[in-house]
Amino acid sequence: MSETIIRPEIPSEGFSPKNLTGISDLSDTELIYLLDLAQYYGHLTRYGHDIPQRLATRTQVNLFLENSTRTNVSFELAGKKLGANILVLPVAASSVHKGEALRDTCQTLAAMGADAMIVRNVEHGTSAFVADALDEVSLPCCVINAGEGTQSHPTQALLDAVTMLDSLGRQAKDGLSDITIAICGDVRHSRVAGSNIELLRRLGAHVRCVGPQEFMPEGSNYQHIEQFTDLRQGLADCQFVMGLRIQLERMDDGPAMSAPDFYNTYGLTHETLKYAASGAKVMHPGPMNRGVEIDGRLADDRRHSLVLDQVANGVTTRMAVLDALLTEQD
Ligand code: CP
Repeated sequence: MSETIIRPEIPSEGFSPKNLTGISDLSDTELIYLLDLAQYYGHLTRYGHDIPQRLATRTQVNLFLENSTRTNVSFELAGKKLGANILVLPVAASSVHKGEALRDTCQTLAAMGADAMIVRNVEHGTSAFVADALDEVSLPCCVINAGEGTQSHPTQALLDAVTMLDSLGRQAKDGLSDITIAICGDVRHSRVAGSNIELLRRLGAHVRCVGPQEFMPEGSNYQHIEQFTDLRQGLADCQFVMGLRIQLERMDDGPAMSAPDFYNTYGLTHETLKYAASGAKVMHPGPMNRGVEIDGRLADDRRHSLVLDQVANGVTTRMAVLDALLTEQD
């Protein structure tokens, strides 16, 4: 007998965000609702149920001005599974390379009928800029941040939280107040870390940063985050250990520590995972640099690694985000 899967109820006060430019766009009840909706789409997918075509007649445009595999493809799949028309703008062959201003590109795409625009860029604040540019000309197209700058990747944080909740057999309302998570490696240049720290702390989790001083985050958002330069101490008692690659493309100068030295000091392996709590799981948002921040044998070992669960949850979490933003506003 197939399991009955009940769609979570929209919060009594509704779902108000028009865009998702960052985790702070969501109230606590909207955050819980989105995580519940993501788990709902995860269950529908895992149990082979029909997916409601809630985005039939809607048009989604993926505007990726910076490279991506997981986010771009998972947003495309998410929209398709919900019945949307999808356009992935071929940026290299577009007028972006004729000097067209971003506001003109976005207004042009929205004027053609885009209902949702999924935006990735190297600069922080791009999705908010695009949302303002569309508001200025009264084009009703929602904007979703698909990763920008060194601070913000909200849908990655949502899918990571879903992966942790699934792994613990929990729902978002249960929270993570008894859970400690170590984010290891180049936290300073990581947009994934920025959004994860914000979201996980809202679920009550204890979050730590682990890595060499040159990769420790700076600024007021991080002042209450524990920092460890010693891997063994940093992983102690953690239930989740998230590896991050060294983001060379976001550094003015290269790192002081060589890749082999980094692996020897901070590499996540079957051996170093033993520093963490018994049964701890390893995560990585990808792309991974095997043999630098993580041993490929650990990443591939699904007894300990949630890397492919994160990828799968990327599709279903983005289904939830698209559904909530495009249909709960009606
Ligand atoms: N995690 C992540 O954002 O991966 P991509 O750069 O491949 O989208």
